[in-house]
Amino acid sequence: MSVLKKQQESVNLSVHRGDFPALSQEINGKPFVYLDTASSAQKPKIVLDVMRDVYETHYANIHRGLYHNSQVTTEMFESVREKVAEFIGAPSSDEIIFTRNTTEAINLVAYSWGRQNLKRGDEIILSEMEHHANIVPWQLLAREVGCVIKVTPVLDDGSLDFGALVSLLSERTKLCALTHVSNALGTINPVQKITKAVKDFSADIKVLIDGSQGVVHGTVDVSKIGCDFYAFTGHKLYGPTGVGVLWGCKELLNDMPPYQGGGDMIETVAFEGEDGAPDGTTFKSAPARFEAGTPAIAQIIGLGAAIDYLTMIGMDNIAAHEGHLLGILNSKLEEVEGLKIYGTAQEKVGVVSFTLDWAHASDVAMILDQCGVAVRSGHHCCMPLMKRFGVEATIRASLGLYSNEADIEQFIAALHKAREMLS
Ligand code: ALA
Repeated sequence: MSVLKKQQESVNLSVHRGDFPALSQEINGKPFVYLDTASSAQKPKIVLDVMRDVYETHYANIHRGLYHNSQVTTEMFESVREKVAEFIGAPSSDEIIFTRNTTEAINLVAYSWGRQNLKRGDEIILSEMEHHANIVPWQLLAREVGCVIKVTPVLDDGSLDFGALVSLLSERTKLCALTHVSNALGTINPVQKITKAVKDFSADIKVLIDGSQGVVHGTVDVSKIGCDFYAFTGHKLYGPTGVGVLWGCKELLNDMPPYQGGGDMIETVAFEGEDGAPDGTTFKSAPARFEAGTPAIAQIIGLGAAIDYLTMIGMDNIAAHEGHLLGILNSKLEEVEGLKIYGTAQEKVGVVSFTLDWAHASDVAMILDQCGVAVRSGHHCCMPLMKRFGVEATIRASLGLYSNEADIEQFIAALHKAREMLS
C-alpha cells in the first residue's frame, strides 16, 4: 500500500501509554481498558497542556487584533494549517479548511460544490460501507436537486467490490465519495487505485475521500491518492473535539461558493450592488472563504500538538504497532465460542466488529464495562452496512497507539465472563 502504509514488524509503543492521563484510572475497580478509539481517541497530555497554555497565556481572537497576544495566537493557529498540509501531503496550506469535524467537511462539499455542480439525473457513487456522515449529506442533496445515488456493494469479507464500482461509472457520474477505512469493519479501501480508475474513466468526476479513520492508522498522502477532497476529524486523531479538516484542490475550492456567511470570510460587505447585483459583498479566497466566524482556536492549536506528537512517534510505527496487536486480538477472539467477525479483508486496521450467538451486543457491552472494558456496540452509524450483513448491531473493539497486550487479555477475560453470565 503506498498511501496507507502498514508494516508487519512489531513496534513497541508501550513507552507512550503514560502520555495519556485517562488511561491510568480504574473503572468499576478494574484497570481502564479503552477499546473505542475508532469512536474517539484519548488525548495525550501534551495536547491538553498546549490548549491550557493558549487560554492561560496568550489567548485572543485571531486575524483581528493588532496587539501582541492576538498576533501570537494567529501565528500559532496558522502554523497548524501548514502542519496539517504537510501531514497529509497537501501541496498548499491554502487548501486546508478548518471545520467542526468530518461531518461538517462533507456537508460543506455537498452544499457548496454539490449545489453548484449537480443537477437532476447526475450520479453520485457511494458504497455500502459508508458512515452516515458520507451518506446523508448526499441524500439531502439528491432530494433537493434530483441527482441519483448509486451504491457500491461490499463483498463477504468486508472489502469493496472494485469491479462493481467501476461498472457503476457512467457519463452521468459527477462524484465518487468513499471512505478510506471502514469505521465498522476496519477495511482499508485501495483509494489510490479507485481514484485512478475513476479519473481514467473521466477526469471530470470528482473523488471525495472520508479519511476519518484513514488518517489515524497510517501515513496519508492526498497528492498520491489523486483525489479532489479529503476530510477528517481531529478528535479521532488524538486531538480535541470541535475541529475537523477539509482538504480540497485550490482551483476547485476557489470556484466554490461559500458554505456559510459571516465574519472573516469576506473581502468587503456592502448593501449596494453594482449592475443590478443584489448586494456588493465579495468573498476571500480559500481557506478563509469557508471559515466564517470565530473558529475553534484553542482546539485547532491542540490539533497541531496532536500532529506533532504523532509525527514524533511516526504514523508507520503506529500502523505497525496496531497491526501487530490486531493479529493477537484476532487469534484470541477465535477462542471465544459463538463469535463471528465481520470484516476479514486482507488490508485492515485495528478495528474488529463481531457478534456472539449467545447474547445481544449491548448486553455484552454492559458486562464488559463492569470489567473496566470500553467497547462500542450498535450500528456504528453504518445502518446500510449492518443491513448488508443481516445484523442490527455488532460489538466493536478498536485499537489505538496506546493499546497493549494487557488490554487484550483483560478484554478476552471479560468476554469469557460475559458468556458465563449470559449463556
Ligand atoms: N464515527 C465514530 C465511530 O465510528 C463515532 O464510532
